[in-house]
Amino acid sequence: MMWRKGAGLLLVAFLAASCENVDLDLHDQITFKHQEYPMIPAPKGSVSMNPKRFDYSTVDAVMVTSPVKRTKDSVDDGKKLYDIFCIACHGPDGTTTGMPVADKFEPRPANLKNETALALTEGEIFQRIVVDGMGIMPGYKFEMSDEEAWKVVSYVMQLQGRK
Ligand code: HEC
Repeated sequence: MMWRKGAGLLLVAFLAASCENVDLDLHDQITFKHQEYPMIPAPKGSVSMNPKRFDYSTVDAVMVTSPVKRTKDSVDDGKKLYDIFCIACHGPDGTTTGMPVADKFEPRPANLKNETALALTEGEIFQRIVVDGMGIMPGYKFEMSDEEAWKVVSYVMQLQGRK
């Protein structure tokens, strides 16, 4: 019987020792609120969701001109992005034709080949994309870099048949 007593004592001693640093009352634990220091640093190579970038809403769009030359490459890249972000509403040719999603919206997404859209400067198209969209169209500043947005502008202007 002696061994049982010994084992029991040992167990009590073990439990007492292991509980020593654990406070079972959650109120007394150290807690950190969301975004409160100390924060875990972002993994190496991760891309900021909110990069510091120029705020284009502060300038007149007419003054904004593209730093990206319209080349086959920039247009191809722009098409890839357009097919992801814009096609559902504006359609493959920009006229919204045949897009069931476009039919559901009021106001209807703009026909990018109508007179108003053809009169937009490249800076105005760019601002629609990176600043705050238009109507139910959202802005895409978190989804696209400025360079990517300019490539979409290249593609849109090509779709419109503009020089
Ligand atoms: C959720 C649907 C939707 C998506 C996605 C969308 N748009 Fe739009 N777009 C609209 C609507 C709606 C308008 C405004 C129509 C109005 O108010 O007359 C608009 C307006 C525009 C205009 C302005 C046209 C004008 O006449 O002033 C441009 C340029 C444009 N969109 C380009 C894009 C590009 C480029 C993308 C992708 C990056 C995109 N849109 C994504 C719905 C959308």
